[in-house]
Amino acid sequence: MQVVEQIAAVREVIAPVQRAGRSVGFVPTMGALHRGHLDLMETARKECDFVVTSIFVNPSQFAPHEDLTKYPRPKERDLELCQSVGVDLAFYPTVDEMYPRGAVTSVIVDGLSTVLEGAIRPTHFRGVTTVVAKLFGIVTADRAYFGQKDYQQQLIIRTMTRDLNMPLEIRTCPTTRDIDGMALSSRNAYLSPSERTAGLCLSHALQRGAQMAADGVAPGVIAEAMQDDIEATPGVVLDYAVVADPWTLTDLTESQSQMVALVAARVGATRLIDNAIWGPSLY
Ligand code: PAJ
Repeated sequence: MQVVEQIAAVREVIAPVQRAGRSVGFVPTMGALHRGHLDLMETARKECDFVVTSIFVNPSQFAPHEDLTKYPRPKERDLELCQSVGVDLAFYPTVDEMYPRGAVTSVIVDGLSTVLEGAIRPTHFRGVTTVVAKLFGIVTADRAYFGQKDYQQQLIIRTMTRDLNMPLEIRTCPTTRDIDGMALSSRNAYLSPSERTAGLCLSHALQRGAQMAADGVAPGVIAEAMQDDIEATPGVVLDYAVVADPWTLTDLTESQSQMVALVAARVGATRLIDNAIWGPSLY
């Protein structure tokens, strides 16, 4: 596995791969890698000839009060994990490499970026879409891999890719969970044992909601039940629990064949999100 810090070096490695007609798969990450990230890389490994990952804690997607400085950066361990799943190239840029002085352009996906996570974190998705657009321009992959764990993020990235005619395919992979159902997240490392137990209320609420959906209960009633479940858990503060249309993210009043349930809550100082797609698979 090669590790490079410079954009020019990425281009030098990728150009001959693409000239030889080999497909390139790309997995962007912020590091602190866990099994969920590695599952994306393994899927890319199966589907593409050459696998690139980026590890970059992107400052522009953190608000000033968020955890940018304390976000974990276990560089050696992350690189070993990438190597262990067969990544060919790891791009590990500095902030200056990605955002040189004078950079003034950003990418905004209207509408979808202002609801749910975007309502609570108003500058977040602008930071995500800008860095992902830049990374797409640097890596020029054929396919890029994202986790359903961040449902709204992958939907916004799909929308950006479509609207800006970016010549790559977006693949969305299932959420990887711990044995007890908790969605893996780099931020789970912040949780104390008791907070982690409390955080299970998100996946439990989604499981209960799935059962209610299967029983034909109306989406609004399911959303309220999920809200009640999460709010009833000591130490947990609900941000939202909704049942929405999978493409527009607007709240549903009536059941439809495909629905997405999205939940977010704070457990102590840590924000957790989770979601579930109900009905035939979307991706
Ligand atoms: P990060 O949180 O490191 O996540 C990188 C990718 O891993 C995202 O596509 C995310 O959805 C996926 N992922 C995280 N946890 C997962 C899980 N439990 N199961 C499956 N996939 C999971 O998301 C970002 O970084 C950044 O916003 C980024 C896209 C890299 C832009 O900076």
